[in-house]
Amino acid sequence: MAEETMTLRVTRYRPERGPDSYLDEFDVPYREDMVVLDALNHIKDDIDGSLTYRWSCRMGVCGSCGMMVNGMPRLTCSTYLREFHPEPVVIEPLESFPVIRDLVVDMTDFLEKLREVKPWVIREREDAVEEGEYLQTPEEVDRYKQFSMCINCMLCYSACPVYAQDPEFLGPAAIALASRYNLDSRDQGRSERDEVLGVDTGIWDCTFVGECSVVCPKDVDPAAAIQRTKVSTTTRGMLAAVWPHRGRR
Ligand code: SF4
Ligand code: FES
Repeated sequence: MAEETMTLRVTRYRPERGPDSYLDEFDVPYREDMVVLDALNHIKDDIDGSLTYRWSCRMGVCGSCGMMVNGMPRLTCSTYLREFHPEPVVIEPLESFPVIRDLVVDMTDFLEKLREVKPWVIREREDAVEEGEYLQTPEEVDRYKQFSMCINCMLCYSACPVYAQDPEFLGPAAIALASRYNLDSRDQGRSERDEVLGVDTGIWDCTFVGECSVVCPKDVDPAAAIQRTKVSTTTRGMLAAVWPHRGRR
């Protein structure tokens, strides 16, 4: 019996050949248990070794295999071909990021935004090591755990119409990451992060479209993180106006 196949239309971009990208078409063997990344790996191994894309873990953990699959930002290692079979599937680089080559985008802006929110525990005074750990109850961990599940896949930025219009927007994952530390009982750095969150290009740029949470493969719910931060920032600003010495902590 003839082997079943499926067609992939894949964006190619070779900066040394000019500014335009184009779609290349490949027929790959089809099995029900194949994910899109398996098909790309087949192309690279057996058809065209020059195809360029990122991946690492193949199990939805490293966050490096995000691409547009039929127009939606998806992890290609977690997206089965059977969802689209027998129709052709179109694979493009993540939207809203500069493309370096074929399906590889430039992550510089994203990484810079993560760094801007100071994603580490900030203490007003560091206790000496011999004083022991900063302990937390399970309830205190639960307050931020959801926002700590982010794998930095950038799908939420690709889905966000605000980031597409205004690349200055801090964006969903960076705001969720700031929330992860602001909600941590060991942290005292909220007012430092407010300098990045509380400006127009921070939380206030978000128009609550919510697509970031729809495409997030880890249920981080960055849209909720943004709305919570809007509420807490407004409340703390009002408290600071009425009660200058207590509102801003
Ligand atoms: S919030 Fe979700 S979609 Fe955005 S980078 Fe993190 S895991 Fe990916
Ligand atoms: S290859 Fe690591 S998340 Fe897909």
